[in-house]
Amino acid sequence: MPIAYKRIAKAKNDILTNEDGSHHIDMFGANGTVLLGHVNESVTSHLHSQLDQVWATGTIDTPIRGQARSLVDSFFPNSHGLLGFYSTGMEAAEFAIRLARVSTGRRGLIGFAKSMHGKSMATAFLAWDNPSIAELPGFHRLPYPSKEHETETFPKLETLLRTKEIAAVFLEPIQGSGGGYAVSPEFAQKLLGLCRETGTLLVVDEILTGFYRTGCEFAHRYLEIQPDIILIGKIMGNGFPVSGVVADRNLNIEPKMLPGSTYAGNALAAAAVIGTLSTLRSLNITELTKTIEDKIRSSIGSLACDQFILRGRGLLWIFEFKESAKAETFVSLAYARGVFIGHAGPLARLMPALTIKQENLDHAINIIVDILTKELD
Ligand SMILES: Cc1ncc(COP(=O)(O)O)c(C=O)c1O
Repeated sequence: MPIAYKRIAKAKNDILTNEDGSHHIDMFGANGTVLLGHVNESVTSHLHSQLDQVWATGTIDTPIRGQARSLVDSFFPNSHGLLGFYSTGMEAAEFAIRLARVSTGRRGLIGFAKSMHGKSMATAFLAWDNPSIAELPGFHRLPYPSKEHETETFPKLETLLRTKEIAAVFLEPIQGSGGGYAVSPEFAQKLLGLCRETGTLLVVDEILTGFYRTGCEFAHRYLEIQPDIILIGKIMGNGFPVSGVVADRNLNIEPKMLPGSTYAGNALAAAAVIGTLSTLRSLNITELTKTIEDKIRSSIGSLACDQFILRGRGLLWIFEFKESAKAETFVSLAYARGVFIGHAGPLARLMPALTIKQENLDHAINIIVDILTKELD
């Protein structure tokens, strides 16, 4: 039975208020977007100020877009810069595909199974193990190169890359929607080396992991690599739809890449970016993240339970259950006790806000532990 979620009428920081007046502690953060909590005051006040100025201007630039662009750029080395804002993660990933194909003059693309880059035809086909929506020429999907699969995957990658027909490899540093598997720094560095040798672009998808979800600014920093292209989204607007493509400044935009779209970089999105990123900069994120991460690791990660495996880091935690039914029971029991956890198939996900109240975090974790240890067998 699918879980009957109540409609949410209001949300503030870590609490969801439903239409009937009941509450849930939000441990899912609107698909990992609201790192600063729902209706964050700083983001709201930037949006309010912009509401009376201008909203959408199409392709024409605005001062606020320029400010947002500079703020995004300040998170990256000088070699890289924002090529453009978009509204959704999928749109950013689609643009990266067009950018890679045009700039390399190649058609081939490599993605990894059970990754997530979006739900358009191209982004879904590149990554998910969906029953194919359509066969797309030039797309290759390999097993995700987590520790267990890296030895098997590298030779396949090498064979494909050495054909010099591959425009780009798309990589999620941690599979946020696919079990929480991660690549090792050694593998990522070897992959980048091979990409450089063969003229292939490495696109790292940080739409979920970027802007401190895993503790540091971007998860690729743990891998000690500098990708050619970085996809950003979700947290950068703290729930307001905005995404972006950051790339090596040697990659130039050409009209053939079909850059932009009607709402790309609209002034309200820019205001949300400024409100979010400037607030993130003012917080002691390392300390705040560590407190939450330590609590999750010590109370849930340490449980001796053979029903699930917990993977993740920082504020991104994924339970992989042996059976989808167990994941559903777990999430539905938690929901009945006032804790909202994300759910898809055998996976359940925790992506709490950095600003979650201590007592709410403790309460949610106690309920989770209680269910996992007493109610799941
Ligand atoms: C890593 C990653 N890339 C891309 C996307 C697609 O983003 P959107 O849903 O905004 O299109 C997601 C969404 O969950 C994601 O987690």
